[in-house]
Amino acid sequence: MEKIGDWELNNIHCIDCVLCMEKIPDNSIDLILTSPPYDSLRDYNGYTFEFEKIATQIFRITKKGGVVVWVVGDKTKNGNRSLTSFRQAIYFQELGFNAHDVMIYQKKNTPFMRSNAYTNCFEFMFVFSKGSPNTFNPLKTKTVRQGKEKLVANKKTDGINNKVWGELNAEKTLTNIWEYAVGLGGSTNDKIAFQHTAIFPEKLAIDHILSWTNEQDIVLDPMCGSGTTCKMAKLYKRNFLGFDISEDYVNIAKERLRLVDAQPMLGF
Ligand SMILES: C[S@@+](CC[C@H](N)C(=O)[O-])C[C@H]1O[C@@H](n2cnc3c(N)ncnc32)[C@H](O)[C@@H]1O
Repeated sequence: MEKIGDWELNNIHCIDCVLCMEKIPDNSIDLILTSPPYDSLRDYNGYTFEFEKIATQIFRITKKGGVVVWVVGDKTKNGNRSLTSFRQAIYFQELGFNAHDVMIYQKKNTPFMRSNAYTNCFEFMFVFSKGSPNTFNPLKTKTVRQGKEKLVANKKTDGINNKVWGELNAEKTLTNIWEYAVGLGGSTNDKIAFQHTAIFPEKLAIDHILSWTNEQDIVLDPMCGSGTTCKMAKLYKRNFLGFDISEDYVNIAKERLRLVDAQPMLGF
């Protein structure tokens, strides 16, 4: 059984993530992909969420060149957005992380929520790296126009802009706004996952795992909830580790992992 610090790899453990990360050696994790309990800073379902301690441990255990993806949204109270996401992002940067990117997770299907403001349809995906990322496998999309076309060539001394036949690129790197359907059949087909109220889409987890890691790398979700990150890491042959403070959620996550062995590879 392979271990990292005190923890059996490729498993999910029910424990406060500060305590568990304290038992993980420095510079040992390739990717941390997680989503904290938004704006329930001191009390989440009766549990403690200590952001500064969590962020400090995350920085210590991330490998040099490793990446942290922090998926977070702000709550609105009395018409006032908390901006907690920004405060957390600045704290990560002050700890020494490089703010590699600020990405948007856009939700395709969001209910109308406010009478005097536009419907919020996104969360942030802050991408931090410890130095420059070791791995970037850019995800690609097909370009609209393909094949051969007359392209502008460099001007010659006569000042004439000659055009020459050239091959258009068949694909281009994605932008940093990623859109996903949410809800059953969107985020996941696992009905059991919806016993957790705040899951992120499986495809979001896959896209980050593929972008920032290679097979056999170690992916950690210290607040793994229904286990989305761990499930996708397992499916894509990464080593994984998941923690959650709630036993109910750990049971859901473990069940989803069990289903992975029973299901064929998902057709993403
Ligand atoms: C937004 S949810 C994560 C959902 C997850 N991304 C998914 O797709 O299911 C945040 C999780 O953090 C967990 N949590 C809160 N405080 C924690 C702590 N101190 N240690 C570990 N987990 C904690 C909660 O139980 C909750 O499941």
